Formats: sequence, structure tokens, C-alpha cells
Amino acid sequence: MVTVILFFFANMYTLLKKYLFSKDPEWTHFWVMNRLKSFHSFGFGRGIIKSWFGYSDSRLAKNVFGLSFKNPIGLAAGFDKDAKYIDELAALGFGCIEIGTLTPKPQDGNDKPRLFRLIEDEAIINRMGFNNEGVDAAVERLKKRKSNVIVGGNIGKNKVTPNEKAVEDYEYCFRKLYDWVDYFVVNVSSPNTPNLRALQEKEPLKQLLGRLQEVNKELGKNRPLLLKIAPDLSDEQLDDIIEIANETQLAGIVATNTTIERTGLLSSSAKIEAIGAGGLSGAPLSKRSTAIIRYLKSKNNNQWKIIAVGGIATTADAKEKLEAGADLLQVYTGFIYKGPDIVKQICRGL
Ligand code: FNR
Repeated sequence: MVTVILFFFANMYTLLKKYLFSKDPEWTHFWVMNRLKSFHSFGFGRGIIKSWFGYSDSRLAKNVFGLSFKNPIGLAAGFDKDAKYIDELAALGFGCIEIGTLTPKPQDGNDKPRLFRLIEDEAIINRMGFNNEGVDAAVERLKKRKSNVIVGGNIGKNKVTPNEKAVEDYEYCFRKLYDWVDYFVVNVSSPNTPNLRALQEKEPLKQLLGRLQEVNKELGKNRPLLLKIAPDLSDEQLDDIIEIANETQLAGIVATNTTIERTGLLSSSAKIEAIGAGGLSGAPLSKRSTAIIRYLKSKNNNQWKIIAVGGIATTADAKEKLEAGADLLQVYTGFIYKGPDIVKQICRGL
């Protein structure tokens, strides 16, 4: 009997995935998270979630940019944009949760459908377009969270804000979140907000990060400030970013966001064409993301840390990123394909 029960739990996600993957991806996201939230609201449910999915091993603890992470596996930005599920995600064992991307004003994002699974590739294409309820709503939720998991605040600009005024949007979010998150990530690398990636160019980026560090000094807590970059940058552009990271004393670089590349996919080209624009994540992104991490590491004089994200789904993927020079790791698409015990599985292997 015990074996049957254990077998059921061990294969629960495989069974459930068949049903979930037959539904619209965005609907599934909120359906699953809201079920998890309800279950977690009971002491009994919390106990089961923690004992089944939680993982604790002091050998995995890491101190990075002055913060103590209980393990190196974090949840990447975009999964819990509005800080709705921090306690529930913490119970799944994540060493940190990056909320956002948040913008000053709420915005709907792009028209639906805007999220697509490429099952053969263990990948996702999304063109969400920073749909979020605005930074103020997130702050109200952060005030109520119970878990003490490390939370990163990933910040962006509203679609209607022109790039010349982008600094104001980032600064607004930075100030609002300052007392409620442990570190910040500046997102200038989403492919789904028109022209956003132009902010990765040398001059606008220097101005943006320079201003945020001024505000950081003024507010007095010296929050670690990180930059999230696209995987589609050339070596020359990476060199510029490294120079700016040194100059503006960044705590780290998050590498990488989703790619606009579509090469080497197993899914049919007809399917890819029908999906259209968006950022690709998951297994096909892994190699490029590792190459970027290796490049960053080779040019880093130990001045900043690297958070690796892009195609991590297994212990082997995690080890590849750590060997390439990552200090911390994040998952998103792997979490969708591997299920709620991904942190436990990777941590065990590490
Ligand atoms: C993302 N990602 C993302 N990144 C970010 O900085 N801000 C965001 O709002 C989002 N939104 C978002 C939505 C969806 C549906 C996906 C799949 C991804 C990018 C994400 O954080 C990560 O960088 C990439 O997905 C690469 O990691 P994985 O998915 O290959 O583990």
C-alpha cells in the first residue's frame, strides 16, 4: 500500500501534466497556482507541501552579495509577477523568488494568446508584454508575506513610457520596492516591450544604472543591484555591459532572458511561424545562456556575481551552469516541464 501511495505521489505531476498540457497555458498557470494557494492555506496542506517538496541541506547554503541563500535554486522573474504566491513558492523549496517584471502603472500586456508550449523542445514562447498589476499592488502583498525567503524585485518600464523617460519608471519602482525586497534586477532585455532592448546600449544603460545606484545610496540600505541581459547580445555588446557593470558597481548580472532566435528547434517550422513573435525559453536556450555565462566569467575580475538562467531543468544543467561560472541559478520553463519537485530534484543531485 505504502509503495502504491509513494508511486502515486512520485508520478503525480506526470499524470497531472497530461491534463494540464491539454489546456491553455495561461489559464493553467493561474489554475495550478490558485489550487496550490488554497491547499497551502490549511495547516495540513502546508505540512504536506513542505514535507514532500521542501529540501534542506546546509551544504547548499550560499552567501552571495551579502545575502544568505538556503540553496542556489531560485525562481526566475515572470512566474510570480505580482507577488501573489511567495509563501506557496517558498514552500516548494526555492532559495529565492524573483517577482516582476513590475512597472509603475498596472498594464494588461499583449493580446492573448501570448504564451505557447513547444512540448517537443521542452520550451516556451511568450510575448506577455509585462502584464502586471503595478508595483503598488505588489508592495501591498509583500507587506503581508509570511515566509522569509529571499525576494528579488525585477523592475521595468510601462509600454507607454518612451525610452527617454524610462529612468523615471525604473526609479519609481526601485523606491517603492526598496524596503520590501532583498535585491533588485533591472530588466532591459525583454523582447516583448517595443524598443526596451535599446536600453541595453551603452549610454542609456550607464545613465539608468548610475541613477539607481545614486538612489540606492540616498536610501541607505545598499541593496544589491543586478542587470538582466538578453542572450542575443554580441561579444562587443557584452564587453560594454561588463564595463558598465564595473563602473556602476553592480552586484551581479542575470544571464539570460528569453531569446528571439528560433534555430535548432524540433517543433515544426509551420508551428513556430504560426506562433509568431516572442521570447523563447527552456532547453533550446541552454547552450547560448551557458556560453554567455562563460564569457562573462572570463572577463570578471570578481567584481560582480552571475545568476544563471536559461534551460535549467536537471542537476546536469545546473552543474553545467555552475561550472561555467554561475554563483546562483534560476528556473522557469524547467519548473513547468519537470513539476513542483524540481528544486528538490536538483538540490539532491548537487
Ligand atoms: C519570462 N521571463 C521574464 N523575465 C523577466 O525578467 N521579466 C518577466 O516579466 C519575464 N516574464 C516571463 C514570462 C514567461 C511566460 C516566461 C517563460 C519567461 C524570462 C525568465 O525569467 C527567464 O529569464 C527565461 O525564461 C529563461 O529561463 P528558462 O525559462 O529557460 O528557465
